[in-house]
Amino acid sequence: VTISVSKDGGKDASPLQYGLMFEDINFSGDGGIYAELIRNRAFQGDEFTPSTLDPWSAFGPADISLSNLTPHLSSALPTSVAVKGKVGEEIGISNPGYWGIDILPQTYKGSFWAFGDYRGDFKAALRSASSGEILTSVNIPSHSNTRGWTKHEFVLDSDIAAGYKTNFTLTFVAKSGHQALNFNLISLFPPTYNNRENGLRRDLMQSLKDLNPSFMRIPGGNNLQGKVPGSRWKWNETIGDLIDRPGRTGPWRYYNTDGLGLIEYMLWCQDLEVEPVLILWAGLYLDGTVIPEDGLDFYVRDALHEIEFLTGDASTEYGAKRVALGYETPFEINFVGVGNEDHFSSGMKSYNEYRFRMFFDAISERYPHLQILSSTVELDPIPKGAVLDYHDYGNPDGAVRNFTLFDDQDESNKVLVGEYGVARNNGNEILWKDHRKRPWWIASVAEAVFYLGVERNPDKVFGCAFAPLLQNIESYQWNPNLITFNANTSATVKSTSFHVMGLLSNNRFTTLLPIENSEEYDPGFWVAGLNEDINTYVWKAAVYNTTTEQAFEINFPGSQQGAVAELTVLTAPDAFSENVFGEPDLVDTKKTRLEAGQEGFTFVLPQWSVAVLNWKYT
Ligand code: AHR
Repeated sequence: VTISVSKDGGKDASPLQYGLMFEDINFSGDGGIYAELIRNRAFQGDEFTPSTLDPWSAFGPADISLSNLTPHLSSALPTSVAVKGKVGEEIGISNPGYWGIDILPQTYKGSFWAFGDYRGDFKAALRSASSGEILTSVNIPSHSNTRGWTKHEFVLDSDIAAGYKTNFTLTFVAKSGHQALNFNLISLFPPTYNNRENGLRRDLMQSLKDLNPSFMRIPGGNNLQGKVPGSRWKWNETIGDLIDRPGRTGPWRYYNTDGLGLIEYMLWCQDLEVEPVLILWAGLYLDGTVIPEDGLDFYVRDALHEIEFLTGDASTEYGAKRVALGYETPFEINFVGVGNEDHFSSGMKSYNEYRFRMFFDAISERYPHLQILSSTVELDPIPKGAVLDYHDYGNPDGAVRNFTLFDDQDESNKVLVGEYGVARNNGNEILWKDHRKRPWWIASVAEAVFYLGVERNPDKVFGCAFAPLLQNIESYQWNPNLITFNANTSATVKSTSFHVMGLLSNNRFTTLLPIENSEEYDPGFWVAGLNEDINTYVWKAAVYNTTTEQAFEINFPGSQQGAVAELTVLTAPDAFSENVFGEPDLVDTKKTRLEAGQEGFTFVLPQWSVAVLNWKYT
């Protein structure tokens, strides 16, 4: 194929081309990027039980039980653990973390609340899960009494890397055989990204940085919606002191502490330097329950309050609440979404009839600068200016066909691809019922073709995000996912799809340029443009299903004989290669220096490959 990239007639590229979609699924928040190491730190429950001791166990000859002691620690966290045992014995509680706690040479910060008369020391420790040996510990003088709950803070210094198969224990020497001591909100954090209090895991944040994202769609997804009436994500219950956050059972069947709350999402966006795309609850639960028109106003106002909380200054009612929490500077929000996938669960009729319109009218009147997303492309009628949130979990061939999906999109209603991921094989079976559980190579190459189709339409599509983003291999609800991890902070696996998106996202355009092709697309697909920030012409391509290598001759404006470019090609051993947790990364990244001949830059690409050609002009 001979390809000539034109100098003129280009379109501005979208600065949001590649992004992230995050919701708490697959223990991606609690047990994932939210760095809290203690699982079930406040004795909360799940969809079957209001509170549980699981996974805590007794340490030593202790008798431990759930307690709804008065006074509660707080109305949000009413349940604590009562610990008692034989006088003179070391007793306490033990927690295995989220399937392990990684011990590295670093300082951990911890805290817990206690109630009950106790003079002496508490001991916080990290111990080997197999032998019980103490790997690091600290004694914490007790201030506990019966006048009220007392917070204790401590640091645990480790000078060793001892693996992640460890337990946290909190112990004391029993002074009374019948009187229990009570504990609640027992927390332990490793050093976090940018050293934020209540912050995020450094290794996972670094993986996200490696993707070079430009936006993040939060907080869902189905998680925002909630399964049954009352269980929606309530922004105002995810802010403030951790003792005031009740959490909730998310639709992905585990308890969300909401320690990772609205403000933490904003700080996360700041740390990644990405544009937040804030999705608002829009009156539809996953069980199909819809808020009727005459009851929806409360939720519309709640959404306005949420936006004001984030963006208002101290003179506004809700902005002042944020300032009171210590965040003086308003956050910048430019995109909000009205609900998630409202075409499902019988939501479409009411969404079209009144739900979208009520949110759209109220938000655009109050915040005319905001881009407002409809959660579905099936919205009808579509008000001018509304952005359409497109989701797709199809098969590889479908992703390839969708190279042209947005070519005819009406520019007055741009699209954001809020969730994308090839999740079915070409026979259309959904993969989480299949033995292939992770992104596999042809699926990732097909995603690349789709992404290139998005890139060539920057006037119609803002950009795209893969979903779901993160998967804790120890317990998850969805496959495939972009990044897989466990408590071992050096074991994270970047999927084949991660590599593909990472390559395309790290090679951005500022301007898309027209191209003349000697042949039609398929099996090769490509886009070309210019990155003026680094004086570089860029050509990006994917080769999908073919039995032969594809030969290319690329000419950039001004790239004369002798010009030197860099070609990066991603391949994998075979079409079904997967990056499996605990096994080597199978994606091969080959960089080649290419010198232009008379025909331009000439090279071949094998089937199932993704490539970027960069030529830096002087
Ligand atoms: O990404 C997993 C789920 O897929 C999201 O929660 C939902 O929006 C979609 O159906």
